[in-house]
Amino acid sequence: MRQLLYISSSATRGQPIDVAPIMAQSVRNNRRDRVTGLLYTDGVRFLQVLEGEDADVQRVFDRIRADPRHVAIVVLHNRAVEARQFGDWAMAKRGANDSADAFDARMATMLDGASDAVRGTFLGLVAARRAA
Ligand SMILES: Cc1cc2nc3c(=O)[nH]c(=O)nc-3n(C[C@H](O)[C@H](O)[C@H](O)COP(=O)(O)O)c2cc1C
Repeated sequence: MRQLLYISSSATRGQPIDVAPIMAQSVRNNRRDRVTGLLYTDGVRFLQVLEGEDADVQRVFDRIRADPRHVAIVVLHNRAVEARQFGDWAMAKRGANDSADAFDARMATMLDGASDAVRGTFLGLVAARRAA
């Protein structure tokens, strides 16, 4: 079982992109490919963890990496894990009108089974984006 974590930025120079089509594609494809994980986005930055069998994660990531909607894709880790830390695939989208507390509570629930390293990376980006 493999877990890959990457970060990227929208190709629109700081303008949020429409993430609804990404959500729709991901829910459909990841179920088919048995890939689970979490995508955090505010439309400008993306932080995604993908997990599943090695070949499945690689195939999904190869597609994602070739997607012109985002740039500056940096793999933070790509490692073997004993078991999945995310039972399903989900997207946490922070909208301009979402209350910080409600969003934090939602993120905490989604990160419930994650390792300290993965949880810390997500919460760190969320905090940084809030401060931005
Ligand atoms: C930030 C970001 C995250 C994405 N995450 C996924 C994903 O988890 N699974 C997926 O299948 N496609 C994801 N995509 C979309 C893929 O890049 C690609 O467009 C899609 O898989 C093609 O699906 P299709 O062959 O069904 O049209 C993502 C795209 C972006 C920009």
